[in-house]
Amino acid sequence: MHASGTDASPSVRQTCALTRCVRFEVSPSAAPVENPNTWSASPICAGIGAYFEVEFRAEGPLDSKTGMVADIRMLDALGRDRFAPLAAEALVPGGPSAGDVLRTFIEQLTDDDPPLTSVVWQLNPRLRITMRPHAMHEILITHRYQFAASHRLFISDLSDEENLAIFGKCCWMNGHGHNYHVEVEVAAPIDGSFSRQQLDALVEREIIERFDHKYLNLDCPEFADRTPTVENITIVTHDLLQAPVAQAGARLHQVRVWETEKTWSAYPLVAAAPEGSP
Ligand code: NI
Repeated sequence: MHASGTDASPSVRQTCALTRCVRFEVSPSAAPVENPNTWSASPICAGIGAYFEVEFRAEGPLDSKTGMVADIRMLDALGRDRFAPLAAEALVPGGPSAGDVLRTFIEQLTDDDPPLTSVVWQLNPRLRITMRPHAMHEILITHRYQFAASHRLFISDLSDEENLAIFGKCCWMNGHGHNYHVEVEVAAPIDGSFSRQQLDALVEREIIERFDHKYLNLDCPEFADRTPTVENITIVTHDLLQAPVAQAGARLHQVRVWETEKTWSAYPLVAAAPEGSP
């Protein structure tokens, strides 16, 4: 006996998502060399190359025989044989932009390829760009920042005992600190009119300068009337960035804030790809 929705019989074509990361090096001058250590990167360069990761997300029904959404060897081949050469072109002066690489790659997909719903290019450990086949007019630029701040979680109307019951050690009198990681994701036009440099400048001005090395409860008026929980920090960060990002010609897609490696918040909630999208 099993619950409805978990029937694994071959007649039920359940849909699922599969993500595969392909690591590779490219150089405009060095020929690519296949590397048996694909955990590291393949292809690699004979000399020094630029290291990238590209992530393919496929969604669809499981194949009734194999139980797979997509064959990861096909996804690896997409990365090594078709994405990596395009990425190498972007390293040549005057070459295509990163957004152009993603668009060209997606436009060259055929019905024989796995059903991709997004392609994520990790350009460096702090920055990635994403293109979704159902929204080719824009790219998502996702950049991670950091600030250090202290806070105290408490409700002034409540007693020390009541605050302790709600917030635990987070309500201790003199506060405590975190290194907050902030991930800002914007949807930008494919024409390159909104740059990562603009995003960096906006986040520096609106968030880092405002919160870095501050005691949020007292130093930042944004938290005068609200408890600086990680959820509220995420919402405040979003609200501070929304208008400046729009004025610069992009759209704030989502803000994520990590208070610790184990605790993070995201706002607003973002819907999955539209039903029926490729
Ligand atoms: Ni805390």
